[in-house]
Amino acid sequence: MAVSTEVKIFLKPKKVARKVAREINKLIKESNRKRFDIALSGGSTPKKLFRALVKKHHDTIPWERVHFWWGDERCVSPESEESNYRLALEILLQKIPIPSKNIHRIHGENTPEAEAIRYSDELMMQLQNTDNIPVFDLILLGIGEDGHTASIFPGRLDLFQSNNFCAVATHPETGQQRITLTGKVINNAKNVFFMVTGENKAIRVSEIMNNEEAAKKHPAWHVDPVHGSLTWFIDEPAASQIS
Ligand code: 6PG
Repeated sequence: MAVSTEVKIFLKPKKVARKVAREINKLIKESNRKRFDIALSGGSTPKKLFRALVKKHHDTIPWERVHFWWGDERCVSPESEESNYRLALEILLQKIPIPSKNIHRIHGENTPEAEAIRYSDELMMQLQNTDNIPVFDLILLGIGEDGHTASIFPGRLDLFQSNNFCAVATHPETGQQRITLTGKVINNAKNVFFMVTGENKAIRVSEIMNNEEAAKKHPAWHVDPVHGSLTWFIDEPAASQIS
């Protein structure tokens, strides 16, 4: 059970993004560690967050202390338009003074099974850990219309419950392979932020908030950091069906 769970609702996606950016700044400043390890999510929602971090926090966040990882990545080259790394590189990483050694992308161009092992090893070598499980200071997550999070899709709760730190997943519609963190690492984070915007997410959000029976099949519902805090940052359209 998360130490604390909060739901924050905002009028517009830009307000969500700016609040999350402020909260990231605050967590970094409050951290008593010399480094701060964040796992980024992919998809389109993080774009506004990346812009807010550049526009509002370029000079206030000590970027040399920040290490960026990914919660999931598509098994594509880093130059692909599908790459979550490329999205962050173009909108955020190229626009802030962060050392390249602080960027730990998932090598989507590698053989998926081998990359899941390589990335797991890098996590174990670089992150602090509890009970030999890597600990992120913050994991950012989104939620798909089907209730997936990271790249753990409905019907694949076995990946969420895997004993491994990373898994190879397959997108149920496109067949695209993905590398994803598993629930073992996600639920071991100090802080987990869900960023959810848009009317098309309202049903899933309402099920997760109000209908445990329906929500249990959604991987996103199983995100519950054991020792950490869980915060939902949602815009009004996505929150419109919460009772
Ligand atoms: C990915 C993401 C994925 C995303 C959701 C929501 O690689 O696609 O990590 O889990 O967070 O699909 O995507 P949107 O933000 O585009 O709605």
